[in-house]
Amino acid sequence: MRVLDHPILGRLEARRKVTITVDGQPVEAFEGEPILAALLAKGIRVNRITKKRHEPRGLFCGIGRCTDCVMVVNGVPNVRTCVTPVAEGMTVETQQGLGKWGKAK
Ligand code: FES
Repeated sequence: MRVLDHPILGRLEARRKVTITVDGQPVEAFEGEPILAALLAKGIRVNRITKKRHEPRGLFCGIGRCTDCVMVVNGVPNVRTCVTPVAEGMTVETQQGLGKWGKAK
């Protein structure tokens, strides 16, 4: 769900639609919006699984301070998705524990 017409901020500006891949599935997003916004619009609320208790984590602060929203983006772990803008062709994966470094794209 997206807020298309906010009582204070006004109507959502028209932006270019792009496709990103989230855990192997294509997800439509608006270029430049935070990755987390695109995920929430799609109904995806879990961004990572904690290392010790294997519990799900997702949006908490929304301003880049808590790290609950970190995911693996283009092979790079620990990317704060609430403050990282969407770009065409981006790959995003749910992070397990502390994450592992893969090939960056
Ligand atoms: S939700 Fe807290 S850093 Fe992203």
